[in-house]
Amino acid sequence: MSYLDEVFGLQGRVALVTGASSGLGADAAEALGRAGAAVALVARRKQRLEEQASVLAALGVRVLAIEADITVDADVERAVEEVARTLGPIDILLNAAGLSRLGRAERHRRQSWDEVIAVNLTAAFRISQAVGLRMIAAGKGGRIIHISSVMGRGANPVHRTVGYAASKAGVDNLTRQLAVEWAQHGITVNAIAPAYFPTEMTMDPKLGEIAADQLEELKRVTPMGRVGAMGELRSAVLFLAAPASSYVTGSIVAVDGGWTAW
Ligand SMILES: NC(=O)c1ccc[n+]([C@@H]2O[C@H](COP(=O)([O-])OP(=O)(O)OC[C@H]3O[C@@H](n4cnc5c(N)ncnc54)[C@H](OP(=O)(O)O)[C@@H]3O)[C@@H](O)[C@H]2O)c1
Repeated sequence: MSYLDEVFGLQGRVALVTGASSGLGADAAEALGRAGAAVALVARRKQRLEEQASVLAALGVRVLAIEADITVDADVERAVEEVARTLGPIDILLNAAGLSRLGRAERHRRQSWDEVIAVNLTAAFRISQAVGLRMIAAGKGGRIIHISSVMGRGANPVHRTVGYAASKAGVDNLTRQLAVEWAQHGITVNAIAPAYFPTEMTMDPKLGEIAADQLEELKRVTPMGRVGAMGELRSAVLFLAAPASSYVTGSIVAVDGGWTAW
């Protein structure tokens, strides 16, 4: 075994990735698979999941696509159960499912608030609970990684997303609370806090990129003067999933071009 495999290798591990049908979740799933893990891809859009699964299978990854709405408790239970039955006990949960709704605070719609909290915060807790329970019972520890956001730590100066900002602050402290409660079980719980990356969540669907005026604003508030590029989250994902990261818990790892450094 190479030294890198010893530190970062995930051979024999099983990962469940939510939000794996697009964007950062799909990219993280590929990173985990390429590092040796068997990967279960979870999201609602079946066809997108199957396309992603084909990409991973072609790379030699053991992969399973599971259509599920993680705001529905029965779907969460079914997904977790199916992964354990088909791939084996879950070692790594990477929770990337998320959504954002625009709307200035004084007019923000109750429905938008509820949708965002349901996916970003409540479902993150429910799936952590379902997987955590099994990890505790198995007694072998595990890794839980949430994709939070720089908005967990501070307000968004560019977009009006009050529910999103509140949900991600919740994810940051959910991470810390689970880390403290489950430390005794060898389960590490950490989060990654990205600044802006071009994904379906942030791009103008008609343009296929972040709108130019918004991009200029984002560059202005980011010390590196640019948004993230797909692939730049992978090292943080592998770091937090790694066997050698057994003493890292309760951390929020910023991948943000310096957004939160000032
Ligand atoms: N892009 C950024 O700039 C940025 C910055 C900071 C943090 N983040 C965070 O990164 C994560 C991934 O976002 P992204 O940027 O990659 O956006 P994205 O491409 O829109 O991905 C969002 C993912 O969440 C899934 N999802 C949404 N609701 C779901 C539900 N009810 N059940 C199951 N899956 C659901 C979507 O799949 P289906 O529609 O197929 O269900 C999709 O795979 C999110 O947590 C987001 O808040 C993104």
